[in-house]
Amino acid sequence: MAHDKASPVESSWKIDEEYHIDEDVGFALPNPLEELPHPYDDWISIAKNLPALIEKDQLRAEVEKLKMLSIDDLQGHKSQRLAHLALGYITMAYVWNKGDGDICKVLPSNIAIPYCRLSEKLGLPPILVYADCVLANWKKKDPSGPMTYENMDILFSFPGGDCGKGFFLISLLVELAAASAIKEIPIIFKAVQHQDQDTLQKALIDITSCLRNALEVFHQIHDYVDPKEFFGILRIYLSGWKGNPQLSEGLLYEGVWDTPKKFAGGSAAQSSIFQCFDVLLGVKQSAGEKSAAEFLQEMRTYMPPAHQNFLRSLESGPSVREFVLSEGNDSLQAAYNDCVKAMVSLRSYHLQIVTKYIVIPAHQQSMKNQTPEELSEKENKGTGGTDVMQFLKSVRRTTEIALLKEE
Ligand code: HEM
Repeated sequence: MAHDKASPVESSWKIDEEYHIDEDVGFALPNPLEELPHPYDDWISIAKNLPALIEKDQLRAEVEKLKMLSIDDLQGHKSQRLAHLALGYITMAYVWNKGDGDICKVLPSNIAIPYCRLSEKLGLPPILVYADCVLANWKKKDPSGPMTYENMDILFSFPGGDCGKGFFLISLLVELAAASAIKEIPIIFKAVQHQDQDTLQKALIDITSCLRNALEVFHQIHDYVDPKEFFGILRIYLSGWKGNPQLSEGLLYEGVWDTPKKFAGGSAAQSSIFQCFDVLLGVKQSAGEKSAAEFLQEMRTYMPPAHQNFLRSLESGPSVREFVLSEGNDSLQAAYNDCVKAMVSLRSYHLQIVTKYIVIPAHQQSMKNQTPEELSEKENKGTGGTDVMQFLKSVRRTTEIALLKEE
């Protein structure tokens, strides 16, 4: 092929080097670093102590004391990702502090300048993103042990006890379960190109089984994430400054821009994994409700650029859906539909989760002390700033529409 970028149609694991997708952990960062050399270790010490510093009301003062550092000596992708993660945690904590409405609308230049330079270098926005708090925020307790909840931990925490660990690690484990299906993508494109129905059918069946496995993993969220802690504490620290009435102008990054800037908060809507299978299966989110399509498209700009490129390259691959449709092969069509149904099931389950972790706690809180206006605001807004249920139902509906009619 005459492309300069590796095409996922090619069967090799070029997608690994080119698109920063790992054969084992998919879009997650393989074995993230945990420490940075001096002088960047100052960032790590603050980020590691956030709950205690917030509790003692010392966080903002400690951040303001930090020396202004150049990012030039931060060598290597993994160091840069760790620094982006640590600065993201520090920024969220600085802005929201105790989560009680005492909000800081200006990020001081000693942190804003290196954070924005680093963000520019990585092609990420200067706010805590999914690629930080989920994809790069993990370690194995026993390095030779398995990637299981019991053998894993997160690197940094917000207030809210173990709720953050549960939320970030379960998101990662769902991502990892689905990621085992990525290796089928080159096989699928090649099979379509060579009109090899058997290979295509087998690969679709494998993808379905990975997606069903991801759904099983998703169930564990109930064991590790408490709805009150999630809604009342953690969610505040993941909130962004776009479409958020508490920071309606955005955040002023002192010394970087003269006016405040708006960025959406961290959310799994910034994960590439669901979007990747949407594209592969020909689920046209872009043809769904305009606002939902725009939001998902916007969320791509919060993904690492290599992953954005991967999604774009998939879009230029052959259409699996059209091929299945044109072959008129019942068992192939059933295999394709099972795959789409697995995506629908994941989204249905996710809707139940959002009801449990956002809609119900918001309602309960309102019974206590909120005005009706504040209630509807909280109940409806995700951390990314969307009108949650309407958005998620629309995305699920667009997924269902991809199903091929069975005779
Ligand atoms: C307590 C658990 C969770 C809650 C409360 C939650 C909440 C939300 C909300 C509110 C949105 C709408 C976008 C926004 O405003 O941010 C969203 C979108 C999304 N979430 Fe979650 N989420 C949870 C767990 C997960 C997990 C574990 C995954 C899988 C890794 C996931 C995957 C997605 C995806 C892919 C979207 C984009 C919509 C779609 O493609 O269907 N979420 N989530």
